[in-house]
Amino acid sequence: MPKVGEPMTRDDGMLQSRTATPWWQRAIIYQVYPRSFQDSDGDGLGDLKGIATRLDHLVGLGVDAVWLSPVYPSPMADFGYDVADYCGIDPRFGTLADFDALTTAIHARGLKLILDFVPNHSSDQHPWFLESRSSRTNPKRDWYIWRDPAPGGGPPNNWLSHFGGGAWEWDAHTGQYYLHSFLAAQPDLNWRNPDLRTAMYDVLHFWLERGVDGFRVDVVWLLIKDDQFRDNPPNPAYREGQTSRDKLLSIYDSDRPETQGIIQEMRAILDSFAGDRLLIGEIYLPVDRLVAYYGRDLKGAQMPFNFQLINAPWHAAGIAKIIDDYETALPEGAWPNWVLSNHDQSRIGSRIGQAQARVAATLLLTLRGTPTIYYGEEIGMVDVPIPPDRVQDPAEKNQPGLGLGRDPERTPMPWDASVQGGFTTGTPWLPLGPDHATVNVAAQRVDAGSILALYKRLIALRRSHPALIDGAIALVKAQSAVLTYERRHGSERIAVLLNLGHDEQRVAIDDGSVLLSTHLDRADERVAGEVVLHPDEALLIRLSR
Ligand code: NOJ
Ligand code: MG
Repeated sequence: MPKVGEPMTRDDGMLQSRTATPWWQRAIIYQVYPRSFQDSDGDGLGDLKGIATRLDHLVGLGVDAVWLSPVYPSPMADFGYDVADYCGIDPRFGTLADFDALTTAIHARGLKLILDFVPNHSSDQHPWFLESRSSRTNPKRDWYIWRDPAPGGGPPNNWLSHFGGGAWEWDAHTGQYYLHSFLAAQPDLNWRNPDLRTAMYDVLHFWLERGVDGFRVDVVWLLIKDDQFRDNPPNPAYREGQTSRDKLLSIYDSDRPETQGIIQEMRAILDSFAGDRLLIGEIYLPVDRLVAYYGRDLKGAQMPFNFQLINAPWHAAGIAKIIDDYETALPEGAWPNWVLSNHDQSRIGSRIGQAQARVAATLLLTLRGTPTIYYGEEIGMVDVPIPPDRVQDPAEKNQPGLGLGRDPERTPMPWDASVQGGFTTGTPWLPLGPDHATVNVAAQRVDAGSILALYKRLIALRRSHPALIDGAIALVKAQSAVLTYERRHGSERIAVLLNLGHDEQRVAIDDGSVLLSTHLDRADERVAGEVVLHPDEALLIRLSR
């Protein structure tokens, strides 16, 4: 244990790995949404200095890498996903010096740092776009996607924005439309333009040289659009209640074959730096398309984010199939990864309930592959209802009432039971949850039954049992409400039993002893031939040989 006042440090031996596996295959990634993690200056917005004061929490939890959602200068129309300068830090988050200090502090603790890279679109306030829209002949005109109106007038084609409405914005000054896959304030960059590509690759160099260990690339499957700008066809499976975008099949404005070449170029830049820099792709696609993003000869993204657990109905048979299908679809040598939640999705405890959130944590941390934890899930945060007058997210403002708003899962991290949870001394940009008197780090740190304690036990177990990291996954099965599988490494076999239901279940099992229960009271219990699972219980059992 470190002495009081001494920074806690991860045992580096683990990250540097006993074998030749790269660090990110052994790692657990933790996503910080910087606006909501820790405020240091009382303005109600989290910032870099604030994050630096909370690194002990991450070390204590046992994670290995921090992914920061965007901290670049931004008008914040989409809370940083509208970038006005790719090589700076927004003053609300701090300065480049604060960033360097945070990088140093993160590395000093044996952690890695992953930045969000947002290449599909910039802010409409980015100097590149201001130039681009200034005239048709401006040298940066072609850095964005400009088109004439359709022959009969109106937008060039039928493409739709992910935030509702059409994807084309009329520019009266130059008499053309520009494309925006998200807000009109987020014009799409033209990745077919070689100068734009070079400029964006310079951005990667800028941050890699400053020491970042990787990037999570925003909407990477959208980067290239059809060169003929063909209309998307209607979606025959569209149902009432889906978003307007669901009316069309997004075949000409996403997942175009030329995207793979760009990802390979990005990866080559990362590979030109020492230290196994990591390329993560944000990709919402069916598995057969998703796995293409590992790239030819695995020279694409090392981690195309696997979001299948996000929308999966919480049933044992369905999840068993997801695991099997994913493992089968993975190209030879590709490393899996799993995600339960992020800043765009309802929190897991709100989706499946707080008792099952503990089962989900056990699933995430015992599957084969790199897990990514969204901040606050380790203390069981749930979606916070946002009063209409405090709504911030354009996704909610543009299409109210469809449940598309993302504010509920972006609320401030409660560190203690004080009025603003230790997050800020000012007024937080979003309200804290009404449960923060109990759902907070300080309270859960001293409660052996808390979900935080469970996360720590799971992570410690994962680190001390090679079967849970390097081991194969086998015998993925559903037995009524119970999902079971084994992790195997050498002679070690660990059975994972997850009761996804609220009734007691009996499961036949080889002899062994309990390594972990979500219910605390069963450590070292012997099992022989059969085990009874409590409602909502997950068990890890080390099987006798
Ligand atoms: C995906 C990001 O995760 C989301 O928050 C953002 O709104 C869109 N990309 C647009 O950048
Ligand atoms: Mg602040």
